[in-house]
Amino acid sequence: MDHFNLRDGALHCEDVPLAAIAEAVGTPVYVYSAATMRRHAQVFRGAVGGDGPLIAFAVKANPNAAVLATLAAEGLGADVVSIGEYRRAMAAGILPERIVFSGVGKTASEMAYALQRGLCQFNLESVVEAEMMSKVATSLGIDAPVAFRINPDVVAGSHAKISTGAADTKFGVPIDDALAAYAAARALPGLAIQGIAVHIGSQLTDLGPLEHAFGKVGALIGGLRAAGHDIRVADLGGGLGVPYDRDMPLPPSPGEYGEMVKRITADWNVRLIFEPGRLIVANAGVLLSEVVRVKPGVGDPFVVVDAAMNDLMRPSLYDAFHAIDPVVPTGEQMVANVVGPVCETGDTFATGRKMGAVAAGDLVVFRTAGAYAATMASTYNSRPLTPEVMVSGDRWAVIRERQNISKLIEADKLPPWLDGSAAAQ
Ligand code: LLP
Repeated sequence: MDHFNLRDGALHCEDVPLAAIAEAVGTPVYVYSAATMRRHAQVFRGAVGGDGPLIAFAVKANPNAAVLATLAAEGLGADVVSIGEYRRAMAAGILPERIVFSGVGKTASEMAYALQRGLCQFNLESVVEAEMMSKVATSLGIDAPVAFRINPDVVAGSHAKISTGAADTKFGVPIDDALAAYAAARALPGLAIQGIAVHIGSQLTDLGPLEHAFGKVGALIGGLRAAGHDIRVADLGGGLGVPYDRDMPLPPSPGEYGEMVKRITADWNVRLIFEPGRLIVANAGVLLSEVVRVKPGVGDPFVVVDAAMNDLMRPSLYDAFHAIDPVVPTGEQMVANVVGPVCETGDTFATGRKMGAVAAGDLVVFRTAGAYAATMASTYNSRPLTPEVMVSGDRWAVIRERQNISKLIEADKLPPWLDGSAAAQ
């Protein structure tokens, strides 16, 4: 459920007409509904058993400070994968004991930074990483709270680029090597082994692979305990899919996910951690854009909008579907190719899309653009980064300014031999 609805014939975010935001901030612009994020956080918490588990929002989905602060106020923690994300989480007021540090390439300086300031747990992805962690931890004299991320060799069934649970991906310790990895880690100084972690992929629309993976983790916990390891924490990752396409079956609900988790983990006797990203924020955001012109094509017309692949990469990167709706629907329909201005054929948001009819100057929204959207933007074609706006009730605020084109240009520096100054002569 989200809070983007038609009122008096015009699309609103909560109580604010989207047209008013476009008028004030210009387009393209990302618009987020705080009420939707809060609701999703509450629904997820209810589904996975209240205040016991740690719900660590996957910061990569939307790292904006206002988003993190909104979720921190709901009691969420953070799953981070870089020092940048760690610092954002801390700056947003997320307590260190609610921060999980994941990622396959943590560097020694990232480890040291987080260790010195505190965290719930590092999810280690290999024994070589554990060896580096041990060195960093002993040099600082701080025990590192760690878990191993296990690769359960389960095919997630999502898009190949966002599936992480198969044995041939770069992620985690192969499940067959897990006992040996824990034994190796136990022999290393400075590591406080406390748990186990798994994450098999994103935008999962079937609980089957998750259940399969969690079942394997459950069996492994038994094996680890039998080998004398004190497993107190199980991090089940994120991955639950959200509806993007109204014509597709709904993905499993948080309630169904929670039931499955309860059933599978009933006798685990651990503290659970979850790392949802998309589920919390995807449907809490839209990308608001203006139609520049409608250009006739040999087939369907091209609706050229002022947003492009650099603003919302998901369609060009993953062939992802985002519903596209006029902000003021006329009731007429059209079939169109929706494209951006970037000079690549890949700058296509939709092909042969049946949608509400639009004309030059109309506003459209790309729905479900609160996750993996603004954060994956680039300045390709020297297009400034898109601003972000957050709405709460009848209030709204710019939570990231549109990037200034002069600043974008000034960020480049000429080498001395191209610089006309005296030093260069
Ligand atoms: N935990 C770990 C270790 C992850 O790698 C991810 C996502 C999550 C949690 C959160 O997963 P979620 O609940 O959001 O599915 N850019 C892609 C998605 C990449 C997901 C990467 N990892 C997209 O736009 O679809």
